[in-house]
Amino acid sequence: MSDLDSEQSWSGLPAAEVLTYAGLLEEFETVNVLAPLVRCSKLPFRHLTSLYETHVTHTPMILAEEFSRSQKARTSDFTTSREERGVFWMEPRRNGRRGGAVGADELDQPGPSRRRSQTCGSLPHNRLPPSPSPPTSSFRLVRGCLIAQFASPNGPSLADAAELISPYVDGLDLNCGCPQKWAYNEGIGCALLRKPELVGDMVRCVKDRMGWDFPVSVKIRIDPELRLTEQLVQTAIHAGVSHITIHGRNRHQASTEPVNLDGIKFAVECAKGEVPCVGNGDIWTMEECVKMRETGVRGVMGARGLLANPALFAGYEKTPDHAIEQFMSLTVDYGLIFPLFQKHMAYMLESRLARPQRAWFNQLPSTVAGIEYLKGTGLDFESKRGTVWDARRGRSAPSVPI
Ligand SMILES: Cc1cc2nc3c(=O)[nH]c(=O)nc-3n(C[C@H](O)[C@H](O)[C@H](O)COP(=O)(O)O)c2cc1C
Repeated sequence: MSDLDSEQSWSGLPAAEVLTYAGLLEEFETVNVLAPLVRCSKLPFRHLTSLYETHVTHTPMILAEEFSRSQKARTSDFTTSREERGVFWMEPRRNGRRGGAVGADELDQPGPSRRRSQTCGSLPHNRLPPSPSPPTSSFRLVRGCLIAQFASPNGPSLADAAELISPYVDGLDLNCGCPQKWAYNEGIGCALLRKPELVGDMVRCVKDRMGWDFPVSVKIRIDPELRLTEQLVQTAIHAGVSHITIHGRNRHQASTEPVNLDGIKFAVECAKGEVPCVGNGDIWTMEECVKMRETGVRGVMGARGLLANPALFAGYEKTPDHAIEQFMSLTVDYGLIFPLFQKHMAYMLESRLARPQRAWFNQLPSTVAGIEYLKGTGLDFESKRGTVWDARRGRSAPSVPI
């Protein structure tokens, strides 16, 4: 990353390949994922993590019924930009399966093959990978994926939401893990964990509407009664999910309790290799990523660890200054309401600012005041905007409401 602004040649890069999320999981060694995070995994933060080896990002959980009913809900719940997906050098799996990838030049062609691998209207040809050349000649240049996560108590609402959002994303994830009481009472989130048949019906309903190639996944928690996890995983697979994300806690466990890696391993075994799995829970360091992979998952999903350090997957032990500066810049480019800017900064600055400084920052009234304060601590995104950073970010990105 230190060579980012140096005078290296960026010419002659191949076109980035575009794969589905499941395709990435099947073909590459290391797939890093930003979790769905209510209020937090919005466009500026997703874009930020995509600068730091986060290959797949998720929207926050969106309520499908509201989304399909109300333009106001759509505008506040989802914005995207052509540039938000990153471009990465990725290492093929040693036993990986080649196929299903589509060169960027093929993507302007209409027809079923385009539908299968590419669901976004147009591509960010103008983003650069982190370095001009691959670490070894076997690495491939690949575009990342954006997944919309929805909560729904029924199939038709989910299919309506899928239809509306599909031109802008690369797949849909069904939330089966939100543990909050209001969600449980509404029959969404973890209320679905013990309703495998309903989950299966919802997956099929989306596929019937969108076509069988449209990627649909589920994010589940493990059940204290493991046979129920097995039933859910197998039912979801038979309904046609492209992959399964497993949060290694049950619905009664707070995030302060350690993640249950054996539970994740069990769920992966239940999938019997029929679809790839992604592991989630307590990813704060690269060592924890390695331990997570030992459960048999193909991808690793970070949540609080990425909020604290968005550059975690790029190997940084704590948030580098340039990540904070990039976030300031993306906030200005895209716009982000001040309370959310402040919330993200509180996570990211925890290891950088002393408690009194953070208390001062938290009582500031506006983004402008926040940025001025941060400039005073030496974080100055305006003077340090390098041309390579700008090209990596695909700069000048107006967000697109739908
Ligand atoms: C602020 C916040 C918001 C979250 N929002 C969602 C959400 O919208 N959808 C979801 O499936 N999980 C959500 N989660 C759960 C995370 O995706 C993840 O499963 C959980 O935090 C465990 O990962 P961790 O131990 O690495 O934090 C949220 C978690 C946090 C901390």
